[in-house]
Amino acid sequence: MAPATTWTPLLLAGLAAARTCSNLTIPVSISSRQGQFKDVPAESNLDTGAFAQAFTQQGRNYSATLLEGFQTVTGNYSISAKFCYPDYGTGSTIQLLSHGIGFDKTYWDLSYNNYNYSYVEVAVEQGYSTLAIDRFGIGNSSHADPINIVQAQAEIEALNAVTTGLRAGTIPGISSTFEKVVHVGHSFGSVQSYWFSALYPNNTDGLVLTGYSANGSFLPVTVAAWNLHSARLNQPLRFGNSSNVGISTAVGSSDSGDGLIRGVQSLLAGAGIELTDQEVWEEIATTEVGNLITGYNQTGLKPLNYPSGYLVPADLTATQYVFLNPGFFDVGLAVLSEQTKQPVTVGEILTIGNAPKTSSFTGPVLVFTGDKDQPFCGSDCMNTGTDAESIPAETVTQFPRASVFEAYLQPNTGHGLTTHYNATAGYEVIQSWLAANGLGA
Ligand SMILES: *[C@@H]1O[C@H](CO)[C@@H](O)[C@H](O)[C@H]1NC(C)=O
Ligand SMILES: *[C@@H]1O[C@H](CO)[C@@H](O)[C@H](O)[C@H]1NC(C)=O
Ligand SMILES: *[C@@H]1O[C@H](CO)[C@@H](O)[C@H](O)[C@H]1NC(C)=O
Ligand SMILES: *[C@@H]1O[C@H](CO)[C@@H](O)[C@H](O)[C@H]1NC(C)=O
Ligand SMILES: *[C@@H]1O[C@H](CO)[C@@H](O)[C@H](O)[C@H]1NC(C)=O
Ligand SMILES: *[C@@H]1O[C@H](CO)[C@@H](O)[C@H](O)[C@H]1NC(C)=O
Ligand SMILES: *[C@@H]1O[C@H](CO)[C@@H](O)[C@H](O)[C@H]1NC(C)=O
Ligand SMILES: *[C@@H]1O[C@H](CO)[C@@H](O)[C@H](O)[C@H]1NC(C)=O
Ligand SMILES: *[C@@H]1O[C@H](CO)[C@@H](O)[C@H](O)[C@H]1NC(C)=O
Ligand SMILES: *[C@@H]1O[C@H](CO)[C@@H](O)[C@H](O)[C@H]1NC(C)=O
Repeated sequence: MAPATTWTPLLLAGLAAARTCSNLTIPVSISSRQGQFKDVPAESNLDTGAFAQAFTQQGRNYSATLLEGFQTVTGNYSISAKFCYPDYGTGSTIQLLSHGIGFDKTYWDLSYNNYNYSYVEVAVEQGYSTLAIDRFGIGNSSHADPINIVQAQAEIEALNAVTTGLRAGTIPGISSTFEKVVHVGHSFGSVQSYWFSALYPNNTDGLVLTGYSANGSFLPVTVAAWNLHSARLNQPLRFGNSSNVGISTAVGSSDSGDGLIRGVQSLLAGAGIELTDQEVWEEIATTEVGNLITGYNQTGLKPLNYPSGYLVPADLTATQYVFLNPGFFDVGLAVLSEQTKQPVTVGEILTIGNAPKTSSFTGPVLVFTGDKDQPFCGSDCMNTGTDAESIPAETVTQFPRASVFEAYLQPNTGHGLTTHYNATAGYEVIQSWLAANGLGA
């Protein structure tokens, strides 16, 4: 392990490249040797709560308790992806983006405020092509059994298949081949990118692990704070089945939510309680009532019918605890993220901590984490209790052979980096680091 090179973020010249993007469906054939767990009840919210209790119990390894053996999962699945490149050409380096829990591929390219929070905009401006995938099991990628199929290892095999396809030029809809593939992750997507580098060290050219550290001590607090509920019960109109669309009629067909607000106001007025529009909206947006009606005013919405075993954090207050640094995020974007949130599977939670202890990857590694990250730093990355510089800096122990290792703390930022005001300034730092370490576009 060579000492980290000294580097200064370059002042990036704004090329303001126009970009071209396309939506792709990528077939992958995977074979994954992974855990076979006893069935975990997850029908009701009391079941999912009991699961979280057992998982976070001190001194217990619940994954080990449930493990019955191992099996090889094989199958042909599809990975949904968004491919973007500068109008002047695809270049030789592509960034392969893996989202974290609670999000899908749109995390990297939010259209909110005219793409003001977009990682992809920043990367494409510096000449990179990007491929943002929905991880296997999530979003518009294939869904599958949430306990014994959609586990970390299967998702990593899918990531490997996509990577190999990018190098070989076999991805339908991408006519270029790429010499270099840089793996950029967020949170569980970083865990998987790291894990992938341990299994297939020759299939990556560089790692950027955002919202990450090697310290798993804070995971139980995260899982408890999420207050996990069944996805199909929490947002029945998005994640339930067609029987649920009746909710739309029940809450009224107003096009802005105004009808609902008036309804709540007149109900409460009958009891002598007067709440302003704003007060009612805050109640709706920050509690599970908001989730219950998410999508009710969208015509033609087809609920995805996720099976039980697909879970979600209960509401915006749970999401804020884990992902957001109060005062430094746009509340409108937080509400939107809650409305468009994505589930996590029981199998993912049971396998999240099973990555190999080290990776023999020999290229450059950047860990890029908000200084107030909750899941990977306990909300204070500087408080190491030792003479280590920061908790993310200690991740160097996972990469004994990396040519360069750097840990960068993005100031005033929580775990969900993209949703903070200063996100894109941080994302420019990442592009500069890549260029300074032999991974320019
Ligand atoms: C890709 O899919 C998104 C979401 O459905 C849609 O908004 C967008 O227009 C599509 N983009 C292209 C280039 O087809
Ligand atoms: C928990 O048990 C699983 C399955 O035996 C194992 O892979 C994992 O490393 C254990 N986790 C910890 C933190 O000991
Ligand atoms: C996957 O597809 C390939 C070829 O399309 C086929 O040979 C193989 O049997 C399929 N595998 C599974 C597990 O369905
Ligand atoms: C974009 O973000 C910057 C801060 O990074 C802010 O000053 C600006 O007002 C934002 N623009 C829009 C359209 O939201
Ligand atoms: C995902 O697929 C649904 C239809 O199944 C479509 O409405 C939606 O726009 C797609 N979203 C993305 C981001 O691809
Ligand atoms: C990676 O490449 C090196 C050098 O070419 C080779 O020695 C090593 O066995 C390869 N490792 C794997 C896991 O393929
Ligand atoms: C929807 O799911 C519920 C159980 O959650 C079931 O009782 C009902 O029959 C399902 N409806 C349809 C149309 O599949
Ligand atoms: C209704 O839909 C609009 C846009 O589609 C959205 O901004 C608004 O938040 C929705 N209202 C509710 C109460 O979900
Ligand atoms: C994680 O960080 C905390 C606080 O800095 C520290 O006490 C603990 O030893 C670390 N755990 C691991 C496994 O590194
Ligand atoms: C925004 O992020 C950049 C890059 O990390 C940093 O240099 C700058 O200090 C940040 N600004 C604020 C106000 O936190």
